[in-house]
Amino acid sequence: MDKHTVLVTGGAGYIGSHACLELLNAGYEVVVIDNLANSKTESIQRVQQITGKPLTFYQADIRDQQTLQSIFSQHSIATVMHFAGLKAVGESCQLPLDYYHNNVYGTLVLAAEMAKAGVRQLVFSSSATVYGESSEVQYSEHFPLGAINPYGRSKAMIEDILRDLAAADKINNNPAPWKIVLLRYFNPIGAHESGMIGEDPNGIPNNLMPYVAQVAIGKLPQLSVFGDDYPTRDGTGVRDYIHVVDLVKGHIKALQALTGAGFQQGGCRAYNLGTGQGYSVLEMVDAFQRVTGKTINYKIAPRRAGDLAECFANPELAAKELDWRAEKNLDDMVTDTWRWQSQNPNGYA
Ligand code: NAD
Ligand code: UD1
Repeated sequence: MDKHTVLVTGGAGYIGSHACLELLNAGYEVVVIDNLANSKTESIQRVQQITGKPLTFYQADIRDQQTLQSIFSQHSIATVMHFAGLKAVGESCQLPLDYYHNNVYGTLVLAAEMAKAGVRQLVFSSSATVYGESSEVQYSEHFPLGAINPYGRSKAMIEDILRDLAAADKINNNPAPWKIVLLRYFNPIGAHESGMIGEDPNGIPNNLMPYVAQVAIGKLPQLSVFGDDYPTRDGTGVRDYIHVVDLVKGHIKALQALTGAGFQQGGCRAYNLGTGQGYSVLEMVDAFQRVTGKTINYKIAPRRAGDLAECFANPELAAKELDWRAEKNLDDMVTDTWRWQSQNPNGYA
């Protein structure tokens, strides 16, 4: 049987590199396209080292239509996992055109080239950030959407575009319809258990766990806890942190679902990828101190604009339809974050 080849856009990045590793281990052929806007080829080298398997890497932009065309003509791609995108919320407010051009236009070029090449299976990296404000704090897929910043809106727009693409197949009676899974990630953290690949943020991290890890290793002096007066159990923000290895296993399950009986008629479906369990900022700090034995110096600071008090996933739909559940616990997430950070104090540099 021919091997199933997966094109991984953004495969040198944090989540994409873990996906490449998991795909190679599961026996898939992997082709990566990444422009290295937020990553280094070292991650790709290490994935090959850990798995002992090669992958094909193209340093190129997904908006480069000719390169995509050439990749689809040279490789027999069956499915695309689309991670490539810009992801910093604050930066997206300063540079909205860059975010829409990269994320939305990039996806348009990719989808058009996929259609031309007859490749219609797609797993897309969406985000819990697409959900609108809600009185309930446990988010289900049917909740109303309503992103509040350009980054989030770029994800919501892409979701709309992909839903429209699948809907058009029904009107056109397309015999080979699009099969699309939108995966709405909650808060991915942690690293592969080897400690060889992980998250390598540029500059000062925006997200909690990389920040805490850099305080622990002495690169940053102090964590600012953004608000301690939220209506949560200790006043600090509650989120659904999910181990990146669990997250990418969810992608493999999505890929298997796309090729299974449930998707024979095509379609576009969204699934939450979260654990269903929320932890507060102070609970995360405590867990980090307990697991690593390091003291995390922190101060209470004002709330960060745009932050919700509490947000976690209802993960039941993915359990039912993708046969996927997160398996790793908070201690695994902290242990693996720390192993990566302490073995690679300067990331891939
Ligand atoms: P990352 O920045 O580490 O990885 C993204 C990769 O895409 C990088 O290697 C970057 O160089 C590449 N890239 C960006 N624009 C590109 C382009 N135009 N052409 C080719 N390559 C391009 O980010 P990540 O954390 O691995 O996130 C992967 C995806 O998951 C992103 O789409 C992100 O929006 C989404 N997501 C991430 C999180 C999170 O917390 N990390 C949460 C929800 C959703
Ligand atoms: C942020 C993004 C979201 C993105 C997600 C990816 C914002 C407003 N939202 O979500 O769009 O999908 O990252 O994982 O940026 N915190 C601190 N101190 C810090 C950093 C964070 O107290 O230095 C707190 C935050 O207030 C929040 C929690 O830690 O309560 C988690 O923050 P973060 O890791 O940035 O994730 P989100 O805000 O959930």
